[in-house]
Amino acid sequence: MKSMDINRVTELRLATTDYFGVGAINKFKDIALYLKNEGITKVMVVSSKSAYIKTGAWDVVEAALKNNGISYLLYNKVTPNPTDVQTDEATVLGRDFGAEAVIGIGGGSPIDTAKSVAIMLEYPQYNTTDLYTFKFTPNKAKPIIAINTTHGTGTEVNRFAVVTVSDLEYKPAIAYDCIYPLFAIDDPALMVGLPPRQTLYVSIDAVNHVTEAATTKLTNPFAVLLAKQTIELVHEWLPVVVKDPGNLEGRYWLTYAAALGGTSFDNGLLHFTHALEHPLSAIRPDLSHGLGLSMILPAVIKEIYASQAEILAEIYAPIVPGLKGTPDEANTIAIGIEKWLFGLGVTEKLSDLNFTDADVERLLTLTRETPSLDGLLGIAPIEATDEVIRNIYMNSMKKIS
Ligand SMILES: [Fe+2]
Repeated sequence: MKSMDINRVTELRLATTDYFGVGAINKFKDIALYLKNEGITKVMVVSSKSAYIKTGAWDVVEAALKNNGISYLLYNKVTPNPTDVQTDEATVLGRDFGAEAVIGIGGGSPIDTAKSVAIMLEYPQYNTTDLYTFKFTPNKAKPIIAINTTHGTGTEVNRFAVVTVSDLEYKPAIAYDCIYPLFAIDDPALMVGLPPRQTLYVSIDAVNHVTEAATTKLTNPFAVLLAKQTIELVHEWLPVVVKDPGNLEGRYWLTYAAALGGTSFDNGLLHFTHALEHPLSAIRPDLSHGLGLSMILPAVIKEIYASQAEILAEIYAPIVPGLKGTPDEANTIAIGIEKWLFGLGVTEKLSDLNFTDADVERLLTLTRETPSLDGLLGIAPIEATDEVIRNIYMNSMKKIS
């Protein structure tokens, strides 16, 4: 696909209409006009402290809102691993302001917070903890616009959102049709400032999404097809972009891979790596989601390979070539994936972050107690027994090979 014109902004028609390509941020002008024509005059903007400005997104967004007579309230206090406290605070401000739509600008954390706020604005009788402990089932949300500035989560095109319920050390996920963004913007030019470590973590997140989506009990051929392409593109372009962060062609394909990954798990859902990573970053809010996933991916593959050998051999062919898809290759593929991660420079394992064997029981309890994670474990390709979960954590303490 070398001949693809990366400067031609196209529309990926998923459940969300995703404006994709270099310069896609300018499509926000059309989106603002659409909002105005819908009679929307007040919007809430949700972001982290400064990325919405540094990426250049804000210049376009603010001008377009002003030009269409739309007033805005900016909430820019979202942190990595955002909490229920932030969502509740933003919701109260948004409600007082009278926000009629929510614009998330940033990576997964601001966009997921925007999704949560969009629901909470419709349900004043509840708080975010109620939402993430499943006290109610939302079927409406304010319209959501997702302006994505990282290439990993896929949240800009799917119906998932995550929050950390700080008091309980829970990091559950929700999935509701009402939080598909109405529009998304995937502009690779907004991502060139992403530092090398973050670049690695977000693309590794995408690889985990498709690994899981392609191997749940609910997977489908579409999820597997997207998985294949996602891994192929990440394998080809991630090393290029880590070396040369300004490489727009590379950012384009990694952004595309992430959107495919988000769609893959919208279809096939997720299982072990996400269910077991969420307790890690719930306990350690400073832990990047992608790093957590990277540390446990090889051990997960080792556990599940025998049951999913054909699909895993096929989708991982670019990273671990020559697999036949027979169950005896579990160790080979696990070592191969770990080597690939280490080769990219992601060499941390759980013990490097001071997790010890003594933490395993607490982590196991959290995977059992955290609302929604049981749903992921229930569709894992092998039975998620305590022994399997312990094995994955224990085998992730140190290098497998
Ligand atoms: Fe993820």
